Amino acid sequence: MGSSQHSAQNYLLAFDTANELIAIGLGILHPDSRTVECVASRHIEAHRASNTRLLPSIDELLAETGVARDEIACVACGRGPGSFTGVRICIATAKGMASALEVPLIGISTLDAVAWGMHHAGLRGDTLVLADAMRKEVYPVRYVLSDEGIRRLHADRVVKAHMEADQLEQGTTLAIAGDALVKYADLFEGRGTLASEDLWTPQGSGLLLAVQQEWCDGAIDPFDAHRHDPAFLLPVYTRLSDAEENERIRLAKTDPRDLHTGVQRAIPVALDTALPDAQSDDQGVVYRPLDASSAAAVALLESQLMGSDAWNEHLVADDLSRKDRTWWAAFDAQGNVAGYAGGWIVDARLQILKVACLSQLRRQGIARALLGYLASDARDLGAAEATLEVRVSNAGAQAFYESLGFKNVGRRPHYYSDREDAYIYTGPLPLASHDVAGMELLVGQAADEGDFHAVAADPPLILAIESSCDETAAAVVDGGGNLLADAIASQIDFHARFGGVVPEIASRKHIEAICGVTQVCLEGAAQRLGRSHLRWCDLDAVAVTYAPGLVGALVVGVAFAKAAAWGANIPFIGVNHLEGHLYANKIAQPDIAPPMVVSLVSGGHTMLVHVRDWGEYRILGSTLDDAVGEAFDKVAKALGLGYPGGPIISKLAAQGDPAAISFPRAMMHSGDLSFSLSGLKTAVITYIHQQERSGAELNLPDIAASFQAAVIDVQVSKAGTALDQTGAREFCLGGGVAANPALRAAYEQACARRGVRLTMPPLSACTDNASMIALVALDRYRKGRFFGLDADAMAHVDLEQPY
Ligand code: KG4
Ligand code: ZN
Repeated sequence: MGSSQHSAQNYLLAFDTANELIAIGLGILHPDSRTVECVASRHIEAHRASNTRLLPSIDELLAETGVARDEIACVACGRGPGSFTGVRICIATAKGMASALEVPLIGISTLDAVAWGMHHAGLRGDTLVLADAMRKEVYPVRYVLSDEGIRRLHADRVVKAHMEADQLEQGTTLAIAGDALVKYADLFEGRGTLASEDLWTPQGSGLLLAVQQEWCDGAIDPFDAHRHDPAFLLPVYTRLSDAEENERIRLAKTDPRDLHTGVQRAIPVALDTALPDAQSDDQGVVYRPLDASSAAAVALLESQLMGSDAWNEHLVADDLSRKDRTWWAAFDAQGNVAGYAGGWIVDARLQILKVACLSQLRRQGIARALLGYLASDARDLGAAEATLEVRVSNAGAQAFYESLGFKNVGRRPHYYSDREDAYIYTGPLPLASHDVAGMELLVGQAADEGDFHAVAADPPLILAIESSCDETAAAVVDGGGNLLADAIASQIDFHARFGGVVPEIASRKHIEAICGVTQVCLEGAAQRLGRSHLRWCDLDAVAVTYAPGLVGALVVGVAFAKAAAWGANIPFIGVNHLEGHLYANKIAQPDIAPPMVVSLVSGGHTMLVHVRDWGEYRILGSTLDDAVGEAFDKVAKALGLGYPGGPIISKLAAQGDPAAISFPRAMMHSGDLSFSLSGLKTAVITYIHQQERSGAELNLPDIAASFQAAVIDVQVSKAGTALDQTGAREFCLGGGVAANPALRAAYEQACARRGVRLTMPPLSACTDNASMIALVALDRYRKGRFFGLDADAMAHVDLEQPY
């Protein structure tokens, strides 16, 4: 990174938003003494608005101190633990900023920063920092503060507040601080001395001191951008998402229900199109957390593979129920256990207990993938590295771990029951084997599908980011509207087991993927332009979906994009996701021109939109209850077919008779343009139950085809009314359901009959993507419609309202 050689580039910018307050520190890095000289330390009330206040505050602070952006040599940020959203805002902002500034990004424990704040205030001796973990829990860390600095006594963990208080002795000299005291001061009073309230949250100076100590210890180098690539930094969570926690509890119970998938099936599924609820990889292998009903299968494999050190079924089942364990299994296409791995998270370490795979399936990357899943859980549970034992005679396994970056650090004599010695290996948490953070990265879909031949791109060059739901996507567009590159990391694998998108998992995955996705996209655009690289500062603007969607997911994209735009000193553009779906049609037909009618049908929306002009929309009608995609998903779920339901149902429907069952066409003749889908969904589910009760066999293709036909009839009929009402001669589609082949065919016929031009986005641009966001951003750039640094993500916005 060439810019870090700039002689005046020696400032450290550090910030933290894990609490209700924003802490910002600005310091000068002195490489000779490895010290950080504090220039400014700020403390700003944020009250859950850190996303709107953080960047403006940083900007102000730099202006006041007369420091320019390109004088920043390193960014540091709090990794928590703290409020999940607060930590994510901090990290997403820091990642965007460090990426665009091309400087190292260093993660600091929020609790260490609090301890350093106490140290700075002159406190010495035994100290306890307690952060609020919600749900009556706290993140406690003990320190010893001395003139030499702070010494942390253990890793991050989460415990019930009263349990932490109970195990402290009365009337000790312990100094206690942390934002958990706002709620629990009563519990901890008398167990030590509560520090003054201004020391309960991190201070800018505390962040700088924490960096200084790690620098002195050699744990970090604030000038080494390679070692501290912004992509590597992850939050401290210490907990899985609620959905995963509940899943583990359920899976650990031996229960007569269908524990294989964790989702109760309405009917036994005997179709090969019936995907299990987790999606399989290329080889048909499905990875899922291990469930108690598979413990016997694991024990059998253990006895075959592990000899006298094999675990029995009871041992495996017992381990599954423990909170600090993580177990994953690989199932083959027949649903048999083909491999498994188990780990124990102790004091920030993943102790790998088991990794095994059927010998005939070795060399398919199954062990590696399993380790990736263990590591991902371990990271969420607060682990930073992994350790394991391996037989001294097992050279193959040793080579495998060495290939993952593990190092042999010692020997345990007579470790195994046959008295063979073990080597101890430690290493970084193994990364999941997929492209980005365990997600498959799809590159160049829109850029290749559209008719684009850009070589010499006209300005402006805009990079757009989409993170409103469960895809992390980026795309680059040029001034001619040519898509130069696009990349999507889909999280579907991580949500499918739960039968829908889990917001907390989505937010976590966006944080993990966002640097990789944007980087790949910049590289793709550079390649398209015949350049060796494309830097953030070569762009003319950064754009992002700011609404509507899952707010915790949007926030990651917004914070990252805003900070990247700030770092590159270029305009920042916010885009309405729904407007993006309208613009996706431009990928198929760059010359489409309003006025037109667009049917927007996705997992969250069902509406007919009159596009009078770009940026001028009127909603002619929308659904009163479920969205079309949601209906597909719910019907698929009722049939036990997995998630997302749209593609599965449409594949089944292709083999069925759409006239087999007569399902209601709700509101077909209501005279207005409103839709209602919950009645249809209920009718399908009632039908399934009736058939089951009468003992009749379900004809899944017929059910799927008949359901789909009912949806399509209403959609097409109302679209016709909308065309009549508006007199528009152009009709377009948008949203995930627009990928449905039967719906597309029905519109082809209907539009041909009416002599209306039909445009449909290419299949890849129907579901969420960033190319469509980039196309909106280009228009907004031309109109000079930029967002400020105080922009925020929003769950809901009105498409009709100009922004
Ligand atoms: O636009 P999208 O990716 O996300 C939202 O903004 O909601 O749409 C996802 C939705 C899901 O409900 C999915 O089941 C549906 O689009 N979908 C389909 C098809 N492919 C995706 N619905 C029907 N037929 C399909 N082929
Ligand atoms: Zn969408």
